[in-house]
Amino acid sequence: MALGFFSSLFGKNDRYLGIDIGTTSIKLVEVERGKGLPVLKNYGMLESYGYLERSNEVIQASSLKFYEKEVVALLNYLLSRMKPRSHQVIASLPSFLVFNTILELPLMSQEDTVKSMGYQARQYIPLPLTDVTLDWLKVGEREINGIRFQQIFLIAVTNEHVERYKSLFKKVGLKLVALESESLASIRSLALKDAVPTLIVDIGARSTNIAITEGGYLRFNSQTDFASFSLSQSIAQGLNITISRAEEMKRRHGLLGTGGDYELSTLMMSSLDAILSEIGRAMNEYEARYGNTLAVSGKRRLERIILTGGGAKLRGIEKYIEEQFGLPVVKVNPFSRLLFDEQMGPIIEEINSYFSVAIGLGIRQFL
Ligand SMILES: Nc1ncnc2c1ncn2[C@@H]1O[C@H](COP(=O)(O)OP(=O)(O)OP(=O)(O)O)[C@@H](O)[C@H]1O
Ligand SMILES: [Mg+2]
Repeated sequence: MALGFFSSLFGKNDRYLGIDIGTTSIKLVEVERGKGLPVLKNYGMLESYGYLERSNEVIQASSLKFYEKEVVALLNYLLSRMKPRSHQVIASLPSFLVFNTILELPLMSQEDTVKSMGYQARQYIPLPLTDVTLDWLKVGEREINGIRFQQIFLIAVTNEHVERYKSLFKKVGLKLVALESESLASIRSLALKDAVPTLIVDIGARSTNIAITEGGYLRFNSQTDFASFSLSQSIAQGLNITISRAEEMKRRHGLLGTGGDYELSTLMMSSLDAILSEIGRAMNEYEARYGNTLAVSGKRRLERIILTGGGAKLRGIEKYIEEQFGLPVVKVNPFSRLLFDEQMGPIIEEINSYFSVAIGLGIRQFL
C-alpha cells in the first residue's frame, strides 16, 4: 500500500469506505463517485459503552494500545448491519500517531526539493527514516527578508502503525488502501477551499484535536488529552455519582443546567478551560509564526473557529468559546459535501458532529 497521504490513488474504484476509529466509537461511511458531489450510499456508527464503567478501557488509546479484538468485533458488527458493497478502505490515524510539521526551505526546483527532503526529514523526525513512511507536499510560499521561501508540509507515520492498521482491516475482510491523519480529513469535510484562516477543534471522548487551516491546507496541529470524557469525570467527582449518570447529565444539560445545588458548568469548568487553554496556545503559536502577514495589525489572523466531534454537542459551548476568544464559532455540516437520499435527512442534524473525519476520508478520491 502506498501511504498516499497526498497522492491520488490509482485505479478505477468508484466506491470507498471512510472509516474513523475513535477512542470510543467507530464511524463508517460508504461513498460513491457522483456526477457532481460524491454520493453517500450508507453510514453507520457504533459506540462502545464499556469505556464508561471501565474507564481504562477504550478501543484506542494514546499509549498506543489498540484494542484489536474489540475493534474487530465492533467493525464486524457494523459491517454485518451495513453490508457495504465496497471493500476499499481509507482510514484515519489519530493525530497523536502522526508526526507532522511545516518546514520552510528556500524556493528551489521541484527536483532539488525532492533531493533535499531526505536530509530535511532527518532533522525533524525523531526516528530512523527506515522505520517510518514519509510524505510531503508544498503548501505555500512567502518572502522573508527578500528571500523567497517555500512551505513544505511533512508527515511521517511509523511503519509499525501502518502494518497494524492494514492487518486490522484484513481481519474483517477489508482492504486498506490509504491512511490519512484525522486533521486532514476534517479539513476536507469542513473547510475545503476556504481561504479564511480557521481553527478546527474536534472534541472527542479522549482527545481534543486542534487543526489550523489557511488557504485549504493544514498549517498547524496540536492535541490535548482533555476532552469530553474529562467533563463527565468532573461531574461524577463533583456530585459523587457514577460516570454513566454524569455522562447523561452532561449530554442532557450541558453548560446550561444545574445538578442539585451546583451549576453543572461550574463543575465542568476546569476541564473545559484546559481544552480552551490548548486552543489559546495553538492560536498564539500560529499567529507568532505567521502573524507577520497580518493585513491589519492588532487584529487576529484567525477569523473563525469550527467546532466538531461528539463533544461539540455540549449545550452552550459555542457561546462560551465565542466569548472567550472573541471569534465567531460555527458548526459546519460535513454531510453538505455529499448528495444523499432525503430519507436519511432527519437524523443527520443529530449526528453530523461525529462524522467530519469519516466523511473527509470517504470523499477523498472524488474531489
Ligand atoms: N449532547 C452531548 N453533549 C456533550 N457531549 C456529548 C454529547 N453527545 C456526545 N457527547 C460526547 O462526545 C464524545 C464522543 O465523541 P466522538 O465520537 O467524536 O469521540 P471519539 O472520536 O470516539 O473519540 P476521540 O476523538 O477522542 O478518539 C463522548 O465523550 C460523549 O460524551
Ligand atoms: Mg474522534
